[in-house]
Amino acid sequence: MRKLITTMCCIFSMVAGGLNAAPIEIKFSHVVAENTPKGKMAIRFKKLIEQRLPGKVKVSVFPNAQLFNDDKVLEAIILGDVQLAAPSLSKLETYTKKFQVFDLPFLFDDMQAVERFQQSEEGQKLLTSLESKGLTGLGYLHNGMKQLSANEPLYDPADAKGKKFRVMASDVLAAQFQVVNANPVKKPFSEVFTLLQTKAIDGQENTWSNIYSKKFFEVQSHITETDHGVLDYIVVTSKEFWAGLPSDIRPVVEKSLQEAITFGNQVALQKDEQDKQAIIASKKSTVIELTSSQRQQWKQAMAPVWKEFQDEIGADLIEAAQKANQIN
Ligand code: LMR
Repeated sequence: MRKLITTMCCIFSMVAGGLNAAPIEIKFSHVVAENTPKGKMAIRFKKLIEQRLPGKVKVSVFPNAQLFNDDKVLEAIILGDVQLAAPSLSKLETYTKKFQVFDLPFLFDDMQAVERFQQSEEGQKLLTSLESKGLTGLGYLHNGMKQLSANEPLYDPADAKGKKFRVMASDVLAAQFQVVNANPVKKPFSEVFTLLQTKAIDGQENTWSNIYSKKFFEVQSHITETDHGVLDYIVVTSKEFWAGLPSDIRPVVEKSLQEAITFGNQVALQKDEQDKQAIIASKKSTVIELTSSQRQQWKQAMAPVWKEFQDEIGADLIEAAQKANQIN
């Protein structure tokens, strides 16, 4: 009888314990504003999880580098301090050199080509290339093509000579400015506005949505529409955290994430044009459209960067990315 009572007590406390189990917490840390493709994607993911896994999984979103800068967030994921992030593909080079392919100047003709490459066999393989570092890539998220801003008009590569440009932590991006005789400065995103405002640097490269949402256009007199490179993200988690999610929870989290990414990609497409138009309408910065021969000059001037990084990235990977420019 005593044994029966003890067993019953055990079962009861296990059930009660199960009912009261604290929800699994997913902290999503990012550096951009909420009104951006990544910011909106994160909020959509939180909403979907609240609807589908109430009380079981809790998502907290930390925008604007409130929690971690992009240079620290991957380390934080590995340490289990946050569970989800979506750093720019340009910020992975301390983990693998392969993603540097996305930084090669003038590689992709447009965002459709970027999407084709990301969804190709080679692009999907890249997502798993961080596993040995304890990171699991769950998908790509778009932002858009980058533009060049400065405090003087930039029409051709000679105009960049001697100027200081902020770049993300990527040697390819640094080389891209060195080949046009400019000075790259690697700095976190959260510092860019102040660096521009105080004129500690002359310019930077970014997407329309980042230039708009962080008000860079208010402290830069000119923005040249170069579309010279892509700024996209990897949605990433810790291998350990992902593998440890209960088997009835993981598929729901994954489905919600994929839906949030699809939504974020639609936002990226809309905001790219919308934010560019908002900047033009503000009249705070002049938007320069290049002629095709001026754009060709930038392309030619930056071309040596490809050769410089070909061995690190891999010629096959560069070729696969180039193929994505052709529509089959
Ligand atoms: C940057 O540092 O310029 C971007 O990576 C910011 C972002 O996450 O879009």
